[in-house]
Amino acid sequence: MTDDPQAAIDAASERRERGRDSRVYEHTAGDVQDGIPFIGAGPGDPGLLTVTGKELVEDADLVVHAGSLVNSELLEAYCADAETVSSVGKDLEELIPLMRDAHEDGRTVVRLHSGDPAIYGAALEQMDALEQEGVPTYIVPGVTSAFAAAATLRTQLTLNGTANHVAFTRPQGRTLDPEDDHVSEFVAMGDVTTCIYLGTHAIPDVMDRLRDDGHDPDTPVTVVYHASWPDEDVIEGTVETIGEKVEDAGYRASALVVIGDAGAGANYDRSYLYGDWANRGGSESEADD
Ligand SMILES: C[S@@+](CC[C@H](N)C(=O)[O-])C[C@H]1O[C@@H](n2cnc3c(N)ncnc32)[C@H](O)[C@@H]1O
Repeated sequence: MTDDPQAAIDAASERRERGRDSRVYEHTAGDVQDGIPFIGAGPGDPGLLTVTGKELVEDADLVVHAGSLVNSELLEAYCADAETVSSVGKDLEELIPLMRDAHEDGRTVVRLHSGDPAIYGAALEQMDALEQEGVPTYIVPGVTSAFAAAATLRTQLTLNGTANHVAFTRPQGRTLDPEDDHVSEFVAMGDVTTCIYLGTHAIPDVMDRLRDDGHDPDTPVTVVYHASWPDEDVIEGTVETIGEKVEDAGYRASALVVIGDAGAGANYDRSYLYGDWANRGGSESEADD
């Protein structure tokens, strides 16, 4: 079947429409399970890999990783003795037999995705194709780059009075049609922090479109390049200025774009949580934030 991963994806979709996989109810996120773990490596700093992820990587014989998006320091720190293979430039027809055969040979295989596999990770199609081959898989979550960027910027992505919502999005390009690009709509909502993945090379175009759509050219935009890496860089600007600044810096990939006041940590209000509301016995579920 490996020659037809789409058939595996279609079959898995049909199964899911009929009902949930029983493992959904048998395990919690964070459980070590049978099969190949799809591990979120985090944004780059080896310290930002979860404890479970680190233990699994340390135990691996074969680590298939997301190439330059996974910091080589992490591989050197945790799996220097394992075979490491970059997934860059490999299609499913190559990746699936590679992981399946190693698993069937009794080797311990892990698949390392950058950040968290659930965000622009293309993990599910690999998992579906492997499962179709009889190889169980599961996900170990990681720190997505938007959260690392927020930490770098010493801010929150949601801030009372400024940003009630967060959008994880990407701009139009080779793999997203213009009608599916919603950056401008998120910015128009006013109280959304818009986090743009996969758009470093396109920042000037994105900003041109925002201006053409009538957005305030002074809207704050912050770009975090290589969040948590030794060469991490922060570029501050606005819809008007950020494109040129990023071009001057020469960044074409590996940056997260944050649009909105929350990225600057500006113009927010004190929360209800540690204000009057705290003394009025707010419900525990809402007090969590
Ligand atoms: C294929 S997506 C993978 C995203 C990843 N799954 C995550 O959760 O962060 C790659 C994009 O994530 C962003 N990215 C990944 N690592 C980053 C980092 N350390 N700093 C800033 N942005 C990063 C960039 O926008 C890059 O184009």
